[in-house]
Formats: sequence, C-alpha cells, structure tokens
Amino acid sequence: MKPVSFYLLTDTHYFENELGAEGKAYEDYMQKEQYFLRESSAIVKSTFARLAEDKETDIVIIPGDLSKNGEKESHKCFIKELYKLKESGKKIFVITAGHDYNEWSYAYKNDERIQVEGTDFDELCEMYRDFGCGDAIAFDKETHSYVAEVTDGVRMLAICCDSPNQPKGAADERLTAWMKEQTDKAKNDGCSMFAICHYPVIPPVPVFDLVGDAKIKEWRKVASFLADNGVELVLTGHMHIQSINEFRSEKGNRLIDICTSCLAGSPAKYRKITVDESSVLKVETIDVEDFGWDMNGLSVQEYFDRQFSNAIVTRVRKALDGGEGIVKHLKSFAGKRFDNITVGALGRLLMIKVDEPFKNKKLTELIGEVGVGIFSGDGAYVEGTPVYNLISAVLKRFSFIIKKVEPKLEKEGVKVDLKNMLLNTIGNNKGYSDNNAKFILK
Ligand SMILES: [Fe+2]
Ligand SMILES: [Fe+2]
Repeated sequence: MKPVSFYLLTDTHYFENELGAEGKAYEDYMQKEQYFLRESSAIVKSTFARLAEDKETDIVIIPGDLSKNGEKESHKCFIKELYKLKESGKKIFVITAGHDYNEWSYAYKNDERIQVEGTDFDELCEMYRDFGCGDAIAFDKETHSYVAEVTDGVRMLAICCDSPNQPKGAADERLTAWMKEQTDKAKNDGCSMFAICHYPVIPPVPVFDLVGDAKIKEWRKVASFLADNGVELVLTGHMHIQSINEFRSEKGNRLIDICTSCLAGSPAKYRKITVDESSVLKVETIDVEDFGWDMNGLSVQEYFDRQFSNAIVTRVRKALDGGEGIVKHLKSFAGKRFDNITVGALGRLLMIKVDEPFKNKKLTELIGEVGVGIFSGDGAYVEGTPVYNLISAVLKRFSFIIKKVEPKLEKEGVKVDLKNMLLNTIGNNKGYSDNNAKFILK
C-alpha cells in the first residue's frame, strides 16, 4: 500500500447542550448509557484542538455516529467544529450512520424527556458536503457511500451500511456491485484502496459473532469481498470498542479491521494510523485528555470508566427483571441478591473455588471491571489470571447447558464453541495488541 497517515476517531455522538441535558429524566437515562451527553461537546472540542496542533498529519477520518441521535442542532454545532478543524489545515472525511438520522432525537429538560427536531437521512449529505461526499470521485445516492482520494494514489472506499435505503448494517447486492466497480477502478488507475465502514466487518471480539447488530451482516462474505478485491484495511466503529482483527479469505487474502472506541465514552480513545514507504502499517492509540470538566477528583480515564461500569451494572440489573413462571422466580431471586452478593458467596452457591483477590469483592464491581476491560482492548484476562480461572470454572459448571445451546447458535454452517469464544473475548490471544500494533501490508 502507498504511504498515508491520518487520525481516526469515531462515534463522536455529539450532543448540543442548549437543547437540554439536565433533570431527573436525564439522570435516569445516564444510569444506563456508556457514553456522555453533557460532556460530548467539550470532548469533541478539546480533541479537535489537539488534532489541529499536529501540523504533520493533515487527514482526519470519522466513520459515523457523529451526533447523539440526529438532533438537527447537534449536527449544526458539530459541523461548526468540523469547519474550525478544517481551517487548521485538515482534510476531513466522515460518513454518517444510524445515530445521525433516527427518530429518537430527544433532549432532557425539567425532569422530562422531550422530542427535538431531528434530521432526515437525505439532508445529511448536503450538510456534510465539505467533509467527504462533496468532493467524491464516486458517490452512491442510495446509501451515501463514496470514494475519495485522500492523498496521492490512495483512495478510501467509504461504505455507508447504515442507511434507511437498504437492510440495516448490510452491504446488499446492489451496494456490493457498486463497491466492485470502485475497487476495479482503483486497480485500473494504479491506486491503493482502504475502506471505512460504520459497522465492524470482522466481529471485534469472538462473542460478537453471536450478536446480530455487532458486525456487518454476512460478515465473512463482505470481508472476503474486500480482501479479494485489493482492500486489506478497513476502519470501523459502532461497537464502541478498541479492537484489531485479521481475517483470511478462502483465496488466502487478508483483511485487517481496526475498530475504534466511542470518542465520548469509555475507553475514550482515538488512533493515529500511518502506512510508511515500506507498507508498514503502524497503529497508535491516543487517550482523550482532560477536556476542562470538573471530574470530582477522578482522573479522565476513571471518570469515563466509572460511567461505563455503572451502565453495565444497571443493564445487568434490568436484565434480571421480568420473565414468566420459574424464570421470573429465578430472576427475582437473583435480582434481590445482585447488588450485595460477593464473588465468594456466589462461588459457594455454584460450588466453585474463588481465588483470594475476589472473595470479598462485590459481584457488581467485578462485572463492571470486566466489561470495561473488554471494551478497552488487549483483553487482560488471559489463562492463569484469577478472572480467567473464575469464568472458566463458571462455564465448566454450566457446561451441560452450553452443550445444548451451541447447536442453536450455529450460523452460516460455522460451529460455535461458546467456552472458547467467551475466554478469547476476555483475554486477547491474537498475538498483537488491540491498541498499538504493526502490520506489513501488501
Ligand atoms: Fe455509536
Ligand atoms: Fe452505530
């Protein structure tokens, strides 16, 4: 691949505070949200200011979910920030995604959630015309996918798989045919090509292969299509996770998917990506720094992680509501104990040995920590660590259920090994980091 260098940030989820972000409805909502609303504009402004200071890297790429939920005012204010960044000398390329035009454009005022003006999908391209699609070499009207030459001889295939005009999170036949025209053209013109896509093309962690919305539909087919048509690198977002994955097509071609976290939520990171003269791809991860907010004595990372960890626990607690018959009874039993049970007490209930560091730890605390850890990438819970031993023992205890469930989870004829999937999700066994890595491209 020819040399190129750029910043990659995604899922900015910009929210304009003038719309309203306060009161009981807001506080309730934030109990279960991974990323910040009220802080998002400050995070974007301070990050853009840092990017502007770097005079060496002049390309910035943002693959979707630019606004919280398509509020017109959020888009307008975010676009103002994009123009300021552009004035500092940057070429900016964005695509939009599901959070940029949906019907859930809300604000929070006087303890109530209120509907605010949203944005139609068809308006987005005109609004963001100076940030990619306006200067495109090729443009697909249906989805707003486009091709741009980001630097001499390097083209970017911007795949909008999250438009209302085709199945959600998919590259259907028509879009694939359009992409084939673009990859062929790049080849004929002697250009290198990489891609961006809002949805991950390769599941960021193994268990996400079982979650419908966590990766592009028929991902093996899409990944093979890209790899076999000269695209070796795709940059993605949507799942708000730091992850890098490789896939080999049946023909032996490789695709690398670099999935990056939400800018406005834990783990709050972005990337600097460089391909040098020798086709060495270098991925560097950068933390969102202090954005001028009162963090009640917490570090920036602690502030982000606390929000996410609380949201994970709230969601688990909510999942323990409801059900019918015996399930309702069991869920209610678990729900009542969930907040206070220690890992040691749970171990005694399940008759499994719990390592010393966890005996007195609250289960909620451990669930929050492990969840935050998975989304930060570089899964730390590899074989031999206390968390690995604990989860391994729990999976062994429930192996009779797992064996029954596995055949039902099979898709596209690929067998499911749930235990390995889960253990490779909590621990990174890929041989390279999800945050800072090097690869040699073709
Ligand atoms: Fe998002
Ligand atoms: Fe998304």
